[in-house]
Amino acid sequence: MRLQGKVAIVTGASTGIGQGIAVRFAREGAVVVVDYIGEASVAEATIAKIESFGGRVIAVRADVSDSEQVANLIAESVKSFGKLDIIVNNAGIETKHDFVDFPLNEARKIINVNLVGPLIVAQAAARQMIKQGHGGRIVNISSVHEDLPMPTNAPYCAAKGGLRMLTRTIAVELAKHNITVNNIGPGAVYTPIDADIQAQPELEKLLMAEIPLNRWGQPDEVAGLAVYLASDEASYVTGSTYFIDGGMLRQAGSY
Ligand code: BGC
Repeated sequence: MRLQGKVAIVTGASTGIGQGIAVRFAREGAVVVVDYIGEASVAEATIAKIESFGGRVIAVRADVSDSEQVANLIAESVKSFGKLDIIVNNAGIETKHDFVDFPLNEARKIINVNLVGPLIVAQAAARQMIKQGHGGRIVNISSVHEDLPMPTNAPYCAAKGGLRMLTRTIAVELAKHNITVNNIGPGAVYTPIDADIQAQPELEKLLMAEIPLNRWGQPDEVAGLAVYLASDEASYVTGSTYFIDGGMLRQAGSY
């Protein structure tokens, strides 16, 4: 058990990659706080999976782009489990439009959730970890699109590009507190964020043609890397992005 005795918050853990990470962390012995947004029922699936093998878990509702809700998320976690060791900034949203037609309210929301959110969450988590005095781990779920342009996806790409530099900068600042900060950059992982592509076989085929391994990734394949980065084993790893994309970044073009 590589995360025995650790307390971890995973944002956006009700589905997709966040759910995969929350479940895997619990299997590795961590006590997990499932952050979700919307009705409490959305978190039930993740909680049921974790409780099925006797894992310890609570769910807390918090919109990551709202600093008061984030402060409450950290406070509830510490109240329930006494400390915070690991935070995974996973919550993310995505909608696509041609750039010239992109509605600004949607663009702002995407940047708020995908970039301002991780900044707020990382700041609040770092303050708590510094107070505790025994270091910590911040793992951000970025994307291949922190590096790779994707037409019709400008705000998302801009947010992920920003997350890349947020990570690099705060990794340097927080190193003296023994808090490490790293990004995971997934490619096409089979989750609800790509439901539109999964529903259109021609589009799905085009996407798969861009991936040397020629298939979707699975949330659990991302979760394995998250466990490593969150564990004591990764003690000398900070300020980097680790891509997990079936080779997508090594192939030119964009579908
Ligand atoms: C996006 C997906 C996209 C994938 C590969 C992810 O960051 O959320 O919509 O399929 O990158 O392009």
